[in-house]
Amino acid sequence: MYIDTHCHLDDEKFSDVKEEVNKYLAAGVDTVINAGYNLASSENGKKLSEKFTSVYFAVGFHPSDSAYYDDIAEKRLIELAAEKKCVAIGEIGLDYHWDYDKTIQKEIFERQLYLAYKAGLPFCIHSREATKDTLDILKSNKKYIERGGVMHCFSGSKETCAEYLDLGLYIAFGGVVTFKNSVNVKEAAAFTPTDRILTETDSPYMSPEPKRGRVNSPENVAIVCDYLSALKNADKTDFAEQVKNNAKRLFVKLK
Ligand code: NI
Repeated sequence: MYIDTHCHLDDEKFSDVKEEVNKYLAAGVDTVINAGYNLASSENGKKLSEKFTSVYFAVGFHPSDSAYYDDIAEKRLIELAAEKKCVAIGEIGLDYHWDYDKTIQKEIFERQLYLAYKAGLPFCIHSREATKDTLDILKSNKKYIERGGVMHCFSGSKETCAEYLDLGLYIAFGGVVTFKNSVNVKEAAAFTPTDRILTETDSPYMSPEPKRGRVNSPENVAIVCDYLSALKNADKTDFAEQVKNNAKRLFVKLK
């Protein structure tokens, strides 16, 4: 019933992935997408997708790893993108919270947007404290974003959300929307049309209330999704179905 469109199942915090998979299946989560953040995690996503029916994967370099992106890595990403269960390029984007070189981040972000375009896949964007540059890059690459994409772990305002929606993007909400002090994000979620909403965990990070502070798991996407359905005054099951359909519309290789 539920879908986690962004998790890191290959993270070392998940010492027993099989147990984790069984846990989320039991919680009604039938589909997850493992997001890549460098070449190794992209390869790990592929391996997990071969082992578990419920696992799909995305490949790409997170902005924090953009200095390691080179032609050899790119060539391999293109091969991985052609795999049956690779549904997106991601996570890619900009992160200005830390001191990673901004010029390199922007260059690698654009290169991977182009890669998504060439592969005919949507993309998954990580944008932290970099809204203006993220929007500028998306707007100046309009031709290359036509396959669509998702703003992962959206934690901005309603106004920022509106700009991404105008570009045709989907908005993925995770644990942050459940935090008591995330008034902005709740507003953004209420504002986002239901047919443009996706759910995710970003696990092992970002546990939702009431599990905040603990290791997050894909099973908790049920909490996020139910929270959003209440916010939208929608039936839990109907809402989860709608989100699943949204995901299938964007990630065309999802079965
Ligand atoms: Ni992530």
